[in-house]
Amino acid sequence: MSMNRFLLRLKSLLRLQVLKSRKSFTYFIKFVGSFLIICLIVMISAYKFIQRNNHPLAITQNYIYIEPISSFFRREHNLNGEKIDWHDYEYLQREKEQFGKPGENGQPVYAEPGEEELDKQLFDVNGYNGLISDKIALNRSVADYRHQQCKKIKYLKELPSVSIVIPFYNDHLSTLLRTVYSVINRSPKELLKEVILVNDHSTKDFLYGELEEYIEKHLKHIVKLYVLPRRSGLIWARLAGARAASGDVLLFLDSHTEASTNFLPPLIEPIAKDYRTCVCPFVDVIDFKTFAYHPQGDGSRGIFDWNGMHYHHMPLRPGDQEHPWSLYENPVMVGGLFAISAKFFWELGGYDPGLDIWGGEQYELSFKIWLCGGKMYDAPCSRIGHVFRGGMPFPNDRKGIDFITINYKRVAEVWLDEYKEYLYKRDPDRYARVSAGDLSYQFYIKKRQQCKPFKYFLDVVAPDMKERYPLEEPPEFASGAIQSMADEKFCIDKLNRPKEQPLGIYYCGENKKRPQNNQHFILRYYRDIADADMESCFDSFGVGEKRELKTFSCHHGQGNQYFRYDLNTKQIFHGPVRNKHCVEVNIGTQSVYVTTCNDKKLEQKWKWGFVNETNIRNWATYGSPIMDAQEVKDLS
Ligand SMILES: *[C@@H]1O[C@H](CO)[C@@H](O)[C@H](O)[C@H]1NC(C)=O
Ligand SMILES: *[C@@H]1O[C@H](CO)[C@@H](O)[C@H](O)[C@H]1NC(C)=O
Repeated sequence: MSMNRFLLRLKSLLRLQVLKSRKSFTYFIKFVGSFLIICLIVMISAYKFIQRNNHPLAITQNYIYIEPISSFFRREHNLNGEKIDWHDYEYLQREKEQFGKPGENGQPVYAEPGEEELDKQLFDVNGYNGLISDKIALNRSVADYRHQQCKKIKYLKELPSVSIVIPFYNDHLSTLLRTVYSVINRSPKELLKEVILVNDHSTKDFLYGELEEYIEKHLKHIVKLYVLPRRSGLIWARLAGARAASGDVLLFLDSHTEASTNFLPPLIEPIAKDYRTCVCPFVDVIDFKTFAYHPQGDGSRGIFDWNGMHYHHMPLRPGDQEHPWSLYENPVMVGGLFAISAKFFWELGGYDPGLDIWGGEQYELSFKIWLCGGKMYDAPCSRIGHVFRGGMPFPNDRKGIDFITINYKRVAEVWLDEYKEYLYKRDPDRYARVSAGDLSYQFYIKKRQQCKPFKYFLDVVAPDMKERYPLEEPPEFASGAIQSMADEKFCIDKLNRPKEQPLGIYYCGENKKRPQNNQHFILRYYRDIADADMESCFDSFGVGEKRELKTFSCHHGQGNQYFRYDLNTKQIFHGPVRNKHCVEVNIGTQSVYVTTCNDKKLEQKWKWGFVNETNIRNWATYGSPIMDAQEVKDLS
């Protein structure tokens, strides 16, 4: 029926009815009423739509990258495969001459007597020690913690140019400038195109006038400073910097870092060979109190769990451990420091601009890289120190908006395929409460780049993930309250203390199977004892007769988080049987600690609210594989 005819009919119908009877008058009112309600609904939706698109971060346009004619990746390079030694020995020599001054060679620096006030004040506003930062030269040297082999490796002669993108928000000036100097001084001149600083609308005055003047005077030739018109968060600041960049490779860094010797060639050579590559440096630790530079570990691979998408480290694969100076594949980047070709970054659509502030962006980009034709590596010969803050001085300014969950949901909806349900199932309310928003552009990218399904990530990229972080939480060994048999009034309790603090005891609650959070623990499939949120785990280390029992982030790696419950003696063993370490209570001092096992002591006997006896009896065969080979033998 055409619209005209429909209207005509409607008219005659109405006229007839209005004329004919009172009854039809009610029909008429009902009709008009429904019409008005529909209008109202349409208007409200339109208003909401307009309002959403007026949000400061509304995504109105997606960026199109046009590869410049000068792009490194338009031509073949290194045809004869020539490699050179990229070290700047002259610079290294000059650095040596500064040794002995405060903080040189990555040494710690301390405040002087009388500076306590300023010391505290500059810590509180930064989350790291600004006063100490001011005492250290902007071009200080840091110790070289690279594997000996790294010092001998030569890299391809023809490498792409690099734009280093550094977003910052309210950093201390000397710390920010040290980041800038460290990358300029330690990069080969011919490779470093520019350093792009993006001020995410900081509130400290010196990050405007004073910083601009400093750059104008000393760094004009290489540093470009951009200021965002409003606070936009890390993800948007990185995107803004990436858009402004003109180098072949984008190297994203945090604003309180220090690059170490020859960090650049190992990061970009793999990209020179294949532009669909992302490379992350090793992240060392700059102490937030003393600015001492410490090496961190021998490398690990990044991954996430299904219980809130927390980031975790997995060990290297056996083959990778044989040559610890070589690149190895990494499933998920840490997130703050990585190099990627601009060409590949924009083929992937950059970051999803719908991600707000921070959180989830490292997953989004890592999944895209792996699923859409790329590879990601860690480069052990490239080391960059990072100040891990000792406190978080700034609140996020999206009050009342759970932006992290929104971000995770966006990533899950687009990239996890059917596996997203495993994430949602663990905390249905959390994900049901938020809307992921418009994802059409993300799905468009996924289709355009012919990205593989997430199954590929699980089967090929991180095949050991399912074992360590199973899709569904497997049945536990025991759970609920852990009640002392020395005095059954008392249960192990977190005492509202945050992570990394000792556990204690407190009066047990009524319900032992499902106690309140402070007393709710789970002896999990992974052979650790987690709290109810599965975030922190019992942990004990150090030496001595009585070792503190604390909680730390669960690492799923057994070691010092390995605990076992003995059904017969009712003891909780810490570490392998041969260590003979058990959890003990002192009712008098209300403390719990780890000490030498003695099955006669009631203080070492515990009752769990719930015990799965089958699983405990099958300790050697049920649960994640026991990593300690001797323990496997001792248990059988
Ligand atoms: C560091 O800066 C100082 C002062 O500007 C300068 O004298 C020194 O040579 C620089 N050190 C190196 C290794 O370039
Ligand atoms: C104990 O764990 C097993 C898995 O090993 C599970 O099938 C069973 O349902 C659990 N028992 C109880 C009572 O939860």
